[in-house]
Amino acid sequence: MIHTPLPRLDCHPEIRKTLLEYCRLQPGEVWVDPLRGHRVGCGDATHAGHIRQLMGDERAQLAIHDPPYNLVAFEERPPADFIEWCRKWVQLTLKYLSDPAALYIWMGADQTDGFQPLPEFMLLMREFPELTSRSLITLRNQRGFGTPHNWMSVRQELLYYTKGKPPFTAQYTAIPKVLRGYYKTIKGRRTENLERSKSNTLRASNVWVDIQQVFYRMQENVSGCYAQKPLQATERIILASSREHERVIDFFAHAGTTLIACERLNRQCFTTDIDPVYSELTIRRLEHYRQTGLTGWQHQNPFTPLEIT
Ligand SMILES: C[S@@+](CC[C@H](N)C(=O)[O-])C[C@H]1O[C@@H](n2cnc3c(N)ncnc32)[C@H](O)[C@@H]1O
Repeated sequence: MIHTPLPRLDCHPEIRKTLLEYCRLQPGEVWVDPLRGHRVGCGDATHAGHIRQLMGDERAQLAIHDPPYNLVAFEERPPADFIEWCRKWVQLTLKYLSDPAALYIWMGADQTDGFQPLPEFMLLMREFPELTSRSLITLRNQRGFGTPHNWMSVRQELLYYTKGKPPFTAQYTAIPKVLRGYYKTIKGRRTENLERSKSNTLRASNVWVDIQQVFYRMQENVSGCYAQKPLQATERIILASSREHERVIDFFAHAGTTLIACERLNRQCFTTDIDPVYSELTIRRLEHYRQTGLTGWQHQNPFTPLEIT
């Protein structure tokens, strides 16, 4: 079984049920990492008690949330209900963010349904006067969906807000700078952009085209997960918007990407998922990384053969 990948767990409730037996956390419980103090909860992002249990008296300098988007691949509900649900976890996030802090939220837009819920979510975020909108980033996926009768949909939207004035460190892609030009006169001398720049590669902009979408052949793949974000994207956010030893929160853990990124970049992560199976996968991914140096299981099974027969 170890060489058999888990299928998408959201589509296989019977396998999910089998795995529940091997999950360490019950709803409302929190696992504390004995080595570096990361915390993984099994809790509801909108439940004040669960989030209090996760956070205690601590605050975070960065939040990276990737909630279900209310569209393809997720349970759908009327946009107004979805936004009411979002309001609750945004409020709890703000309560546990320090000042200053940065907040990143992945959000979808359904082109077959008025682009909901992205615009509604943006309007919701305007209700919080402590937040300043900073950037709308688009991550380009390699695979898309749709028919030849419309533009193929390959985008993932990432909203960036700040509370106060947190640090921001520019990040660089691996894409070499090739275009000359953008001449500017500095101290009476005409300079060309390559000689002015700090790097020979392009600075990451608000359109990310250089990050590979996770698929089953990548080492970081966690079989059973259906919505895993690339480690490279998460690490880019963390490097841009936090310092070493700071704390990062993520209330929608799933495959535990934020936790692994924090471990690798020397930050502390407090994360939670409503589903005990994803909380368990998140803890296992950290343990597996520490044992093997691998960031995921590629297409192998995160549960051992003893557990699933
Ligand atoms: C899009 S996935 C997050 C993916 C994650 N960024 C990663 O890279 O693996 C959303 C996750 O939110 C969880 N979730 C849904 N509703 C939740 C809630 N009310 N509280 C906490 N987690 C929830 C789901 O179980 C799912 O694992």
